[in-house]
Amino acid sequence: MPNASLVIANWKMNGNRELTKTMSVALREKLSQLQKVKIVVCPPFTLISELASQCYYDDIAIGAQNVSEHASGAYTGETSTTQLQEFGVSYVLVGHSERRQLFAETDDKVNEKALATVNAGMTAVICVGENKAQRDEGNTWKVVAEQAKAALANLPKEKAGKVVLAYEPVWAIGTGETASPEQAQDVHAKLRTLLVEQFGAIGEKMPLLYGGSVKADNAAELFAQKDIDGGLIGGASLKESDFVAICQAAQ
Ligand code: G3P
Repeated sequence: MPNASLVIANWKMNGNRELTKTMSVALREKLSQLQKVKIVVCPPFTLISELASQCYYDDIAIGAQNVSEHASGAYTGETSTTQLQEFGVSYVLVGHSERRQLFAETDDKVNEKALATVNAGMTAVICVGENKAQRDEGNTWKVVAEQAKAALANLPKEKAGKVVLAYEPVWAIGTGETASPEQAQDVHAKLRTLLVEQFGAIGEKMPLLYGGSVKADNAAELFAQKDIDGGLIGGASLKESDFVAICQAAQ
């Protein structure tokens, strides 16, 4: 179990300069009550610089929602690890189900991005999760384990401290249908075993986040589960009061 909980906001393709201001003010006002939780905010690329300057004096990390596996070059529309780090980014979401489904990111591509991220010294937040059909067919763990093993391939043990896994059942993302604490813990416990098998004792400390319709009224019960170390929050991270409440639930 890590020392403190981790709550990551994934704004997706939402938000504006006003939200960077209101969110940073709302978090700053409550930071004294949030000492035990690590907070990361992943805005769209266009808002990273503004948010980083808004949160400069606070213990709020800035994350990106994607990164190129390439260091530089003729990759129109892409952004490299070094370009993200130039603006203070220290976390990167990798393999989000929307990237896998809508932008054809394969397990191999997710692995390349995860390796590029940790080798650049940033923390890779690797997203895994099954869809409704896979769960209904009883293939949840088969799918999640395959995704996790593929994403973690060739990752050196000494880089394990730069990896977070986020279990996000696709059927719970944006649907309001949250996995039950028992459903989530069942998968998290298996992921914990997988991490210990691959990385040894440090696997016990690698944060395991749950994502998928986490709300202010269900966060505490989810975070109370033995192997749920925090959350990856979508919709609820766009409203200051909701996101602050979720961070408070992670204390
Ligand atoms: O990455 C987090 C996101 O996929 C979860 O979205 O709106 O269900 O909290 P949401």
